[in-house]
Amino acid sequence: MAITIVFANQKGGVGKTTSAVNLGAYIAEAGKRVLLVDFDPQGNLSSSVGADKTRPGVYELLTGSIEPRAVVQTTDVTNLSIVPTTSDLTGANVELVDQQRREYFLRKALAPLSEDYDYIFIDCPPSLGILTLNGLVAADRVFIPMQCEYFALEGLTQLMESIRLVQKRFNTRLVIGGIFFTMYDSRIRIAQQVVREVIGYFGSKVFQTIIPRNVRLSEAPSHGVPINKYDPNCVGARNYQKLAEEVIARG
Ligand SMILES: Nc1ncnc2c1ncn2[C@@H]1O[C@H](COP(=O)(O)OP(=O)(O)OP(=O)(O)O)[C@@H](O)[C@H]1O
Ligand SMILES: [Mg+2]
Repeated sequence: MAITIVFANQKGGVGKTTSAVNLGAYIAEAGKRVLLVDFDPQGNLSSSVGADKTRPGVYELLTGSIEPRAVVQTTDVTNLSIVPTTSDLTGANVELVDQQRREYFLRKALAPLSEDYDYIFIDCPPSLGILTLNGLVAADRVFIPMQCEYFALEGLTQLMESIRLVQKRFNTRLVIGGIFFTMYDSRIRIAQQVVREVIGYFGSKVFQTIIPRNVRLSEAPSHGVPINKYDPNCVGARNYQKLAEEVIARG
């Protein structure tokens, strides 16, 4: 049975996708079987590993119109696979709203794949809508990437409310697996203050590794490979590798 982790934060551009792909790549490199699930109609995760978005993907998996294993694509990284997004997922957003037990679609869809992997990583869109809700219901743990800026803290309250709602009504297994900082720039004074406040509130839930701002991380997706294949020696790569070690160590 895989450990299913959802990357969630309704704030846009905080590093959900970058973290899912690069943590996935380093955990795969460590010998674990990892399945990435691109649950964002933007399709950034699919692009980040050069997946073919014209083939059946997560939408077909949700609707059950295809054998689950048929939507999985391999990547350039050994042990790292992906269920890509499809543009139809935008439609699923609307279609799901009227369905009974609409919160459980992704969980049901991923169940048959769980045996094949050690980790399943779900990347969510920047909202707390039905797609992110499905992600939270499907997961054992939620990972929250945060940018070190003042508004990051404001969004956090809303996210915590959604997580509590899911824990109470839909998925009692769900726990906060970890919070980590991305795009850290020590020259920005507020950054250090945000880190201190979040550690003060969440304590040991906060991972020790902080991901710095590093341009190589933003370049890698345009080559369709994770950072371990693009520039394994850059500071961003080294920190994602360290963070991956922490994730594995937490079990
Ligand atoms: N540590 C970093 N250093 C520099 N650039 C980064 C870093 N992490 C992410 N980026 C870049 O910042 C942008 C936003 O990152 P990303 O797409 O991972 O965020 P996201 O939370 O998934 O966004 P969205 O909410 O739109 O899905 C991207 O262009 C990405 O390449
Ligand atoms: Mg994203």
